[in-house]
Amino acid sequence: MIQEKIPCSTDAVILVGGKGTRLRPLTLSTPKPMLPTAGVPFLSHLLARIKAAGITHVVMGTSYKAEVFEEYFGDGSEMGLEIEYVVEEQALGTGGGIRNVYDRLRHDTVMVFNGDVLGGTDLTKVLDTHAAKDADLTMHLVRVSDPRAFGCVPTDAEGRVLEFLEKTEDPPTNQINAGIYVFKRELIATIPPGRPVSVERETFPRLLEEGRRVFGYVDQSYWRDMGTPDDFVRGSSDLVRGIAPSPLLEGRTGEGLIDDTAGVSDGAWLLGGSVVGRGSEIGGGARLESTVVFDGVKVEPGAVIENSIIGAGVTIGANARISDCVIGEGAKIGARCELKGGMRVWPGVVIPDNGVRFSSDA
Ligand code: GDD
Ligand code: MG
Repeated sequence: MIQEKIPCSTDAVILVGGKGTRLRPLTLSTPKPMLPTAGVPFLSHLLARIKAAGITHVVMGTSYKAEVFEEYFGDGSEMGLEIEYVVEEQALGTGGGIRNVYDRLRHDTVMVFNGDVLGGTDLTKVLDTHAAKDADLTMHLVRVSDPRAFGCVPTDAEGRVLEFLEKTEDPPTNQINAGIYVFKRELIATIPPGRPVSVERETFPRLLEEGRRVFGYVDQSYWRDMGTPDDFVRGSSDLVRGIAPSPLLEGRTGEGLIDDTAGVSDGAWLLGGSVVGRGSEIGGGARLESTVVFDGVKVEPGAVIENSIIGAGVTIGANARISDCVIGEGAKIGARCELKGGMRVWPGVVIPDNGVRFSSDA
């Protein structure tokens, strides 16, 4: 198969060392790429896409909660991959993380992934563009409505990258860094070892200044950075509904996804790509809309939950109403409480029955 020819000679590197601060408190116990997303740790979807593209050697650059990754994925053989882990004692940043795995690389072409991006781009096409342009570095780029939170990457008519502007208030274009790079291996050796380096703020601007051949591959594939609660909820819902592609969900998409060990009572509603995790129980008349319910959660009858993430072991009392919230592990939300508008409940917090209410027009 032609598709497999190029990727087999490619290493994958996944950056998963970030602290996931914007997803606290969920990331206090679990690193962001391991949060359950459409029934499996988020990273499983990315690994399945890497495998489907024919790449088998994967190096993970870890730091924060490094052990969790290896405990779950092991040597990768169950997924048909060969996974290695390189731990940063002190977080080295994105560039430092890439440099830190240099001696594990086997091939001259290295595909680097930000570990928190849910995407549908054709990886083989990114690699083909890299080869066709004889590029030193190729970046996957997408267009977004608000580029300020990302790396802004203007290109010329041939796709050559003109500038790399990380998180700028006044971006000259809405074309942004989508978090997949194809490096020539020798370029990675030019990143200074043993100290924190931001690939976005230090390495990319330097490579451009040196006149290296840096190209963009732009497409309109599904793309979402899962770094905030809102994006996490939407990304998970999009996976469940088949809007975001994942080889792990083919043929299983719909309005809701219920783990085989969960119990959802008759008369409970699961809408908008909601997920119910292992061993969780959803009572009659409860309504979940675009909501991610982790493992071991109890939602009592009549509760209404929208656009929220419910951490492992949480209890939601009868007729509670929760929208746009993150509920930390083991918290107990009493009956008839109302929580909304970006509230985050810390792990283990107990809110008594009727404990928090908003007036209907608040
Ligand atoms: N190994 C390692 N070490 N990985 C790290 C470190 C580190 O010190 N710091 C961050 N990472 C990993 C994160 O785990 C994540 O998978 C990835 O690098 C990107 O970090 P984020 O913290 O999620 O960055 P961002 O979303 O603000 O911005 C980045 O991604 C955007 C696209 O999603 C930048 O690359 C932007 O330019 C880009 O547009
Ligand atoms: Mg991110």
